[in-house]
Amino acid sequence: MTMRTKCIKITKENLAEAALEAGQILQNGGLVAFPTETVYGLGGDALQKEASAKIYTAKGRPSDNPLIVHISQASALSEIASPVPETAWKLAQAFWPGPLTMILNKKDCVPTETTGGLNTVAVRMPDHPVALALIEASSGFVAAPSANVSGRPSPTTADHVMQDLDGRIELVLDGGPCSVGLESTIVDLTEETPVILRPGYLTPEMLSAIIGEVIVDPALMQTDAGSRPKAPGMKYRHYAPRAQMILVKGSQSEVTQKIRSLIDQAHQTGKKVGVLCAQESKDSYPATVVKSLGSRTDEAQIARNLFARLREFDEEDVDVIYAEWFEAPGIGGAVMNRMLKAAGHQILQAQEE
Ligand code: TXA
Ligand code: MG
Repeated sequence: MTMRTKCIKITKENLAEAALEAGQILQNGGLVAFPTETVYGLGGDALQKEASAKIYTAKGRPSDNPLIVHISQASALSEIASPVPETAWKLAQAFWPGPLTMILNKKDCVPTETTGGLNTVAVRMPDHPVALALIEASSGFVAAPSANVSGRPSPTTADHVMQDLDGRIELVLDGGPCSVGLESTIVDLTEETPVILRPGYLTPEMLSAIIGEVIVDPALMQTDAGSRPKAPGMKYRHYAPRAQMILVKGSQSEVTQKIRSLIDQAHQTGKKVGVLCAQESKDSYPATVVKSLGSRTDEAQIARNLFARLREFDEEDVDVIYAEWFEAPGIGGAVMNRMLKAAGHQILQAQEE
């Protein structure tokens, strides 16, 4: 099914009117893409099972992969989840609106189409005026996965959304580029000890400061592809550019040297090479397409740029992408998690022989 996808550039002046139009589409069972602080979401009414079914079709997403329900006030949590533990209210108080998704036991009003067949529901209150206005103008419960075609890098601009979903949804609200650029941290509160199922902008330390012990799903720590994470979405190859991507691990000087020799070899076989690196080492590579994620001193910038750069490589039509390793103390864990998935866990160790 194809349709004409309308795109509205949001300003202070037209926000209220555009939100009303978009909210109406959602109430009628249609789909609207909208900006959040993390990435763009592909929204449908979370309480209408037909709307959730449409989301899966538009994205080409496996139907066992549950959606996040977006709300505009913390109190709405108890309308769709039960019980709501004290830890949930504390986290909401500390981090909402913001890049935190909580998994709780769902109430019957949430259809299993929305939750991928699970008895739990993922809930988040996004920190973006356009998202909040849209939720207010809808039923108050907006199911929204990232607004990309399944498997591709998540969209951080309205252009990215149009690249993937033009002709498949009714409307895109263009609120400019996303400020965080990586998806929310997901924490499962249905277990005795809260478990982080997807790393994001908010680190485990930031959550423990509010609710005490938090563990990280052990499946996420493994760098091989054979692990079985609890968030169904984390098991799929994801965020991937079309070219083969290989991460090169080691100290900065080892990595630079290794990538330089890989470029040499690839050029000898006539391949078009891309390099994804830090600003600091951008001039070290004689490859055709060298893209910087930003300075290693600015982790937030690296996170914000990652998905856009991965998409840009597709336009350059490179055969192979060599990427520097980006482990760092804060949001670097989330950056590496996304890069590992983009590379399908292909890692080269760059030790000197
Ligand atoms: O930042 C974000 O979270 C963005 C914006 C749009 O809010 N949304 C997003 O949604 O990243 P999506 O669908 O691309 O990723 C949702 C992740 C998937 O890995 C899914 O498996 C997991 O959340 N998830 C959703 N509900 C779950 C549940 N009940 N139990 C376990 N994992 C769940
Ligand atoms: Mg996604």
